Amino acid sequence: MKGNSVIYSLFISTSLFLTNCEKADEPVKNNKIENLLSQMTLDEKIGQLNQYSIGAELTGPGAKEGQNKIRYEQLKNGGVGSVLNLLGAKNARETQQFVVDSTRLGIPLIFSYDVIHGYKTIFPIPLGESASWDLELMQNTAAVAAKEAAASGVMWTFAPMLDISRDPRWGRVMEGGGEDTYLGTEIGKARIRGFQGNDLSDITTIAACAKHFAGYGFSEGGRDYNNVYVGKHQLLNTILPAFKAAAQLEAATFMNAFNDIDGVPSSANEYLLRELLKGEWNYEGPVVSDWNSFGELITHGIANDKSEAAQLAINAGSDIDMEGSVYIESLKQLVEDNKVSEGKIDDAVRRVLKLKQDLGLLDDPFKYFDEEREKNTLLNADHLELARDAGRKSIVLLKNEGDLLPLKAKNIAVIGPLAKDKDSPIGNWRAQGETGSAVSFYEGIEAALPEANITYAEGCKLSIGPNNFFNEVEVEEEDRSGFQEAINVARNADVVLMNLGETAYFSGEARSRSEIGLPGLQLELLKEVYKVNKNIVLVLMNGRPLTIPWEAENIPAIVEAWHLGSMAGHSIADVLTGKYNPSGKLPMTFPRSVGQIPTYYNHKMTGRPSTDPGMVFYSHNMDIENSPQYPFGFGLSYSTFEYSPIALSKEVINKGEKLTVSVTVKNTSDVDGEEVVQLYIRDVVGSITRPVKELKGFKKLMIKAGESAQVDFEIGEEDLAFYRKDFTFGTEPGDFEVFVGTSSSDVQTATFKLN
Ligand code: NOJ
Repeated sequence: MKGNSVIYSLFISTSLFLTNCEKADEPVKNNKIENLLSQMTLDEKIGQLNQYSIGAELTGPGAKEGQNKIRYEQLKNGGVGSVLNLLGAKNARETQQFVVDSTRLGIPLIFSYDVIHGYKTIFPIPLGESASWDLELMQNTAAVAAKEAAASGVMWTFAPMLDISRDPRWGRVMEGGGEDTYLGTEIGKARIRGFQGNDLSDITTIAACAKHFAGYGFSEGGRDYNNVYVGKHQLLNTILPAFKAAAQLEAATFMNAFNDIDGVPSSANEYLLRELLKGEWNYEGPVVSDWNSFGELITHGIANDKSEAAQLAINAGSDIDMEGSVYIESLKQLVEDNKVSEGKIDDAVRRVLKLKQDLGLLDDPFKYFDEEREKNTLLNADHLELARDAGRKSIVLLKNEGDLLPLKAKNIAVIGPLAKDKDSPIGNWRAQGETGSAVSFYEGIEAALPEANITYAEGCKLSIGPNNFFNEVEVEEEDRSGFQEAINVARNADVVLMNLGETAYFSGEARSRSEIGLPGLQLELLKEVYKVNKNIVLVLMNGRPLTIPWEAENIPAIVEAWHLGSMAGHSIADVLTGKYNPSGKLPMTFPRSVGQIPTYYNHKMTGRPSTDPGMVFYSHNMDIENSPQYPFGFGLSYSTFEYSPIALSKEVINKGEKLTVSVTVKNTSDVDGEEVVQLYIRDVVGSITRPVKELKGFKKLMIKAGESAQVDFEIGEEDLAFYRKDFTFGTEPGDFEVFVGTSSSDVQTATFKLN
């Protein structure tokens, strides 16, 4: 009998069972999986745990050559459970058909892909979008990314990245929600909700993946793939809350991190996987390795060969082997040798089958593949409009001296290597975002200001040679031939818009930098232009916080515009012209220098935070102040806001009680504007040292010119709880400080007591 008919007959019997017994849906569903599992051979089970990156050629003309030959055979014989990077409704349908027809049980594949900030319509890079502090927006952009991806046959994305990171040298900060646990967790939840919607089997939603579990954002020195050393309290209080929330929200899958933590690589980390995720947190989804991260257990030096690597990974609780061929080559023998129990394999397979069931694939393996829908969905006008809106909401106004912005001048020079670059705004991890498809900064300005006299000079180049996902970026450091033209253009303008920063491939995976200033000749160019015209608006495009001490000191207006995606130029123009009043706030601290790193707002006090003037024995650097260039939560608006002192509903609360914290925020300007009102707390004395401030809430609201708004926050026990000295989670009685303000360093303060 053909495989699919086995599955279908199984469905008929289970649905009869359902009508007969009128049982709740869930146990019956699980029954379905048990039935299927009971029919599978050990080889077929192991096949479900095997994942490859394949192109459409695997079942086409090139199928039987080289490495493809092995994969072709495995695909044909039920040796592959899911694939990544195979795209397009037509290609996916053909491959699915091949698998369903040729394998004994006809269990369909899952098609997966890195859909990080859009599929074809590209939204701001996640770090940039996080600056919007707009959770609804982030949920919406993830939902559109899912809709487009699903229309192209993708059912599972490897996102969101939940790695908290405090090191801007790490190139992958562009993929996450920034440095803060609370904000990062809320953003992660919004993105998961966006990708998954309410029903995974809906053809417009896709499965999310909480990655990288865990600690990847703490790689030593910010160097990608490097080792991680974090204490258990730090792990529990800072790194894991976003993952725990993702598990509670039923993010469909988790992904192992590449790194070790204090000697134990994540793919073989029983504590993380079995004890916490699948134990304490009761997580029921599958955990996928990162790309060959099981194979890398050999390179890490904790396994001698693939067999040992497979044994470590499966026993630790890792379920799917992405591109490692470690499980497919070794698991069977390991079971026969009694080194791995078949029960562990069954558990992993159940998780994979459950995902297939939740995606609706066991009912209809072809439901996602509709070429007509694909054509009508990708780059839909509404999606592009959302990209424009997401772009402008992600922009952070860092400085605006002398009200240079919004633009009033008519004689405008646009200068910089990124100004006409239609590719960099697409950012790294761009899925199917086409090379060179963004609205450039120049195009945006030109379209927004048809009456203005706009001149342009590139000034310098940013990199030499290939600029793509796979190649090392080589920074241009010699060619000053464009400087003179830039100087000439600047001299004759009322205002100079300088568009500087990083191309898309200065950040992302494997894009760590040891210096994070403007790369190449850009600062030199900026200084030359500044000599002839000081009316400069510096528009930064970058995938990480940069060190910009000279710029911050000298340039009157600075706009952080990240890599904003398909509509970047229009989004930036909306802000520069005042069509949109900027409302973004930094999700990550901008340090003054690399030597200051890590610089993050919620650090501990230390025993010596400061001292009397003139005394040297306190925690500091001799050559730079401790404060950052721009703190977490910081961002200006064309409006100005004034905060009232904090009013508390009580000054003492008992366990289980709540407290209301209120402030009145007044828009003291004559322009309507949005403000992100931020709430922080400090637990003054604890059983372990506690951060000087921790974000515990925020509200983004529009306040009309001259008007005031009262903002109330409720603080309850869960906001004050943490993993205590004995690693239990809960509160400790004592004094708390509460802060409300416009950034982590500009706040009103009050105190209360928890009994
Ligand atoms: C490696 C990256 O670390 C991970 O985030 C990504 O999902 C996989 N490659 C698949 O592309």
